[in-house]
Amino acid sequence: MKETLLKKFEEVYGDVEGVKVFFAPGRVNLIGEHTDYNGGHVFPCALTIGTYGAARVREDRKLRFYSMNFDHLGVIESDLDSLTPQKEAGWTNYPKGVMWAFEKRGLAIPSGMDILLNGNIPNGSGLSSSASIEVLMGYILREFFGFEVSNQDLALIGQYSENNFNGVNCGIMDQFAIAMGKKEHAIFLDTADLSYTYAPVKLKGAKLVIACSNKKRGLGDSKYNERRSECETALAELQKVVDIRSLGDLTEEQFEEYKSAIKDPVRVKRAKHAVYENQRTIKAVEALQANDIAQFGQMMNASHVSLRDDYEVTGIELDTLVEEAWKAEGVIGSRMTGAGFGGCTVSLVKDEAIDSFIKQVGDAYLAKIGYSADFYAVEVGDGPCTL
Ligand code: GLA
Repeated sequence: MKETLLKKFEEVYGDVEGVKVFFAPGRVNLIGEHTDYNGGHVFPCALTIGTYGAARVREDRKLRFYSMNFDHLGVIESDLDSLTPQKEAGWTNYPKGVMWAFEKRGLAIPSGMDILLNGNIPNGSGLSSSASIEVLMGYILREFFGFEVSNQDLALIGQYSENNFNGVNCGIMDQFAIAMGKKEHAIFLDTADLSYTYAPVKLKGAKLVIACSNKKRGLGDSKYNERRSECETALAELQKVVDIRSLGDLTEEQFEEYKSAIKDPVRVKRAKHAVYENQRTIKAVEALQANDIAQFGQMMNASHVSLRDDYEVTGIELDTLVEEAWKAEGVIGSRMTGAGFGGCTVSLVKDEAIDSFIKQVGDAYLAKIGYSADFYAVEVGDGPCTL
């Protein structure tokens, strides 16, 4: 991959003087969905697929961007003195947003750059290609300019840029999973205070299989922000009767005791998901740590049911993939992952059943939805690095 990037860099920018090559992963969340903006727990891991980037410093303040995933767009130019989001700037709003966020932190970027990216995360799949670009850009800026920021800061800067430059009100999960990724481990993160531990993902004869629905979703135009505000309203209603900072502070029993304070039945369902999913995530991680993979799989299934019935972020494509997976031989657990409304599912499948799983679920999906899903057996990888 490094050679491919350097060759293309030379073709696009003329030479490879001063160029370095970097990588940042994508992520998949194993359980703990729509809990990260509710002060709950999440359990994501970094993948070995992600975004590669070649970059060098320029002497002027110009920025030049090129993506091998969008060859037809050619070189997109900008400069450090006009870091504002622009529709026509397309994907470059992500790296530009990160530069802007560094400057907001008082970390002025001293000179322009030539940048070339190549990602192997399927686009719009819900495996966080945008957060991968954000963390990669932060990592590149730290490498070239020596900014004193930790990997956790890179995650926070990425989220800040996504929220305030790109207008998507996401939580911290994606950027954190990417910046803090660890091979063969998932990250058990408490989003209330960012405390975390790594849990080994030892799957004993099984693999994580991602099924991409090929139904595109854009967080910005989805109902993501609507779900967030429904939860905020439910929290404010609950706070009138119980002293909590977030929905993540409640146990299931406490929720049942106080839920009548929420004045709308739809909001009761949203808040119920946030509370139960958080508790389910804590129990699922305990099960994994006790090597009870079957129990972990059951929790994944229950997570999907809650996202389908209470949080209502699945849709026919994700439901078909998951419900067909549940019927297939050798499936330990299956659920939608990420924001929902399209994107992908994650399933735990026994090694010997992977081929038949892909065939059976793939055929049923095509027959029902009318176009194909794509399947990937994935590995859990490390965070960002220099190649
Ligand atoms: C998206 C957001 C995350 C998280 C998930 C849902 O991936 O970027 O912050 O809220 O959706 O769990």
